[in-house]
Amino acid sequence: MTTVNVAVLGASGWMGRVHTMAYQTFPHFFGTGQGSAQVVALVEANLAANGEAAKDLEFRAPGARIEQDWRRVIRDPEIDLIDICLPDNLHYEVAKAALLAGKHVYCEKPLADTAEQARELADIAREKGVITRVGHAFPRNPAHDRAKELITSGALGDITMFKGCQHIDIYADPMAPYMWRADGDLAPTGIVGDTGSHVFCFMEFLVGRVSELIAENFIVTQQRPKVDGLGYGDAASGSEVKEWGQVSNPDATHLMCRFENGARGIVDFSRTATGRKFQQCYEIYGTKGALVYDYDQVNRLRFYSSADATGQQGFRDMDVGPEHPTFAAFLPLPNFALGYNEMKLIEVAEVIKSIATGQEMWPTFESGHHIAQMVDACMLSSDKRAWVTL
Ligand SMILES: NC(=O)c1ccc[n+]([C@@H]2O[C@H](COP(=O)([O-])OP(=O)(O)OC[C@H]3O[C@@H](n4cnc5c(N)ncnc54)[C@H](O)[C@@H]3O)[C@@H](O)[C@H]2O)c1
Repeated sequence: MTTVNVAVLGASGWMGRVHTMAYQTFPHFFGTGQGSAQVVALVEANLAANGEAAKDLEFRAPGARIEQDWRRVIRDPEIDLIDICLPDNLHYEVAKAALLAGKHVYCEKPLADTAEQARELADIAREKGVITRVGHAFPRNPAHDRAKELITSGALGDITMFKGCQHIDIYADPMAPYMWRADGDLAPTGIVGDTGSHVFCFMEFLVGRVSELIAENFIVTQQRPKVDGLGYGDAASGSEVKEWGQVSNPDATHLMCRFENGARGIVDFSRTATGRKFQQCYEIYGTKGALVYDYDQVNRLRFYSSADATGQQGFRDMDVGPEHPTFAAFLPLPNFALGYNEMKLIEVAEVIKSIATGQEMWPTFESGHHIAQMVDACMLSSDKRAWVTL
């Protein structure tokens, strides 16, 4: 059995904690036949002076060494896989250093700040012959495997139209605090790389590549309060605000696109959609059928077939269940619901399987490059107020 030695970078953050858990937990569901993982190092820059953060890391990965400088784990010959859960602006620099050192790299989305950087990373990975993976997670929900099976089988005919959206409301309140996500130096493409990249990933998986698009990006709230200790779900009160941060990347985007296969798309995403705690939807229309997905019913697809008899036509619900191996790994019955953390477990199991078998699995850095091209095109199109060819 292959055991992959992993370093998780950004270990105290949301993704760092989920990934660390997933390496230790996935064999409970998928076994060790296709590899296992040992978290041997956790890298976290922000270790509190009182040592609580370090103690928490020790608890979460017993025996792992704790580092503050990511360069130290990249130099370590014992480490096979570098897992990047750092803020967006560090992805390119860290991934490049890791690839050049011959490491396998699993990088949270967005892969890089520009398509040029993403292209360079994909090229280095190919030259080095290492495994790469971008951490989009959501498409690993088996509901989307079912959608892909229906599309590939021809049940929808030729795809003519994709409508997609992803919305959250973390920045709906103008007093929601300034975080790295609103800083154009730390997250240069804002919501486009953050949330748009997830929708673009679905588009590639289910419909295909995009050839041109026109987009409008916009900032809804220009300045946000800078208050230490406030994060997701918080809002500052006027009296405690001494400093304001300038929002310097997009809060929201609307776009239209054309796919290489002739289908058309309409997409929007934002972080200011009041009341939308997490909305992720798509509708796919073809010449013979249609599919509708809504994350509010996370394991359910709605399917329409023109082949149904007159009088019996209509969208029908499909509950995705244990007929799919990645669902069966967790639950023996449909509609008990797989959630976000299970999607990450499936993804991490695939990353380790890829390394153990030498077979890359989608979405690799090649897809990361295509998605980065779409992000670039949105930024350029919005600046120029014009269609952009990818
Ligand atoms: N796939 C998904 O669904 C998904 C969901 C959330 C976030 N993300 C992505 O994951 C990445 C991390 O996001 P998050 O929400 O976990 O952020 P976070 O702010 O919760 O965590 C980032 C962590 O990195 C640490 N850090 C920052 N600079 C560092 C450095 N130089 N060296 C070591 N540690 C450093 C921070 O102290 C923090 O603990 C982002 O790129 C984000 O876009 C992906």
